[in-house]
Amino acid sequence: MLRGRFSQDTHQLVQEFTDSLDNDRVFAEQDIQGSQAHARMLGRQGIITQQEAEQLVSGLERIREEIQKGSFPWRSDLEDVHLNIEHRLTELLGSVGEKLHTGRSRNDQVALDLRLYVSQRVEEWQALLLQLARALTDQAEQHLETILPGYTHLQPAQPVSLAHHLLAYVQMLRRDAERLRQAQERIRVSPLGAAALAGTTYPVDPEEIAREVGFGNSFANSMDAVSDRDFVLEPLFCAATITTHLSRLCEEIILWANPSMGFLGLPDAFATGSSIMPQKKNPDIAELIRGKAAGTFGALQTMLSLIKGLPLAYNRDLQEDKKPFYQADVIVSGSLSLLTAMIAEMEFNPEKMLRAVNSGHLNATELADYLVSKDIPFRTAHQVTGKAVAYAESQGRGLQELKLSELQEFSPQVEEDVFRALDPYQAVARRNSPGGTGFKAVSDQLAAVKAWLESASGDG
Ligand code: ARG
Repeated sequence: MLRGRFSQDTHQLVQEFTDSLDNDRVFAEQDIQGSQAHARMLGRQGIITQQEAEQLVSGLERIREEIQKGSFPWRSDLEDVHLNIEHRLTELLGSVGEKLHTGRSRNDQVALDLRLYVSQRVEEWQALLLQLARALTDQAEQHLETILPGYTHLQPAQPVSLAHHLLAYVQMLRRDAERLRQAQERIRVSPLGAAALAGTTYPVDPEEIAREVGFGNSFANSMDAVSDRDFVLEPLFCAATITTHLSRLCEEIILWANPSMGFLGLPDAFATGSSIMPQKKNPDIAELIRGKAAGTFGALQTMLSLIKGLPLAYNRDLQEDKKPFYQADVIVSGSLSLLTAMIAEMEFNPEKMLRAVNSGHLNATELADYLVSKDIPFRTAHQVTGKAVAYAESQGRGLQELKLSELQEFSPQVEEDVFRALDPYQAVARRNSPGGTGFKAVSDQLAAVKAWLESASGDG
């Protein structure tokens, strides 16, 4: 179609090497949507007649049906989705079909198609993020007063509310959703009307096309419009961040499902067996989500490398921009869906959690704070408590299991009320500083999260 100036046909190997149909036929629908908007604009601006515009729009409608029915005659010798559709349009309409490409280039065309496609997929990610956040919030709501060890350095540190722990992930997902919403503002900008790179002599109306395809704005600079791909980079960064968060949560699930912790039982439908060891119940799904996260980092890296050396404006390298996005898309949507289903069925084990809380001297800070309340300076209180912990440890007992007289050996200021201070449940309940793990603070947080989920389900 494009070889007017050439006297030789394309070499077979060149044709195979440059063919992008397998990668761009995915957004045939977006190509048709963009072309219909372009045709209508051409008609309205008097660049073609209204009647020609209508013919183009209905010819494209027929192609849409052919593609949906699977009867569209795809031809890999026609390089890409754009030339396939345009060629078919001319087959159906005759020379009117050849008018579609007036004032347009494949450079602005492919950029619009990909923006439409990316925007739609990102909308799906936003919805899936909310579903996962909802599943975690539902679990949090049931476990406000379930307590477990909180860790630093993966060493038992202080008891926390399970709801607080789960809501920490909801906060990450909430930021992820916000990042995607902000990215959408930049994705949803129409590049059509930039033509090959320099704009066009026809009186095109890019704003009208933007409105027609449901985008907020059109481009400001035609050279930027055809060559910019940060509208792919940004969602890929978001994808890498989302899967990083999911991977951390999965790591947590893997640890908690380990029998030595035993904080949760994996639902049978989400666990796998071993081919040789009959007792095994493996967290393969969580491991795979953790593993697949690597693929989104790869996709981001590929995209950064693809763009970094490109002078303005369009370069054919950009044809390689689709695969990284698809790769990340499959991982993000698959991981979010699966994790949502798994979290919803997760059975936590509050008894095991409490046992772990009671066995790791997690109430040592409480004893130190108790001594401070008896007017002992904090550093001294810390020292005294350390000695009491070492003693309890040597006895194989918890601080709360020592007798009052034993505790008084370390500090005569200790009184009967120390046992209330050492109760881990009370230790959690007391931490009501804003955003803390106290039951009151966590139920405030829960209410704020639920209000966000409520309002976000409207606009994604
Ligand atoms: N298949 C091409 C791509 O995906 C379409 C744009 C081709 N433009 C060009 N000047 N060769 O980037």
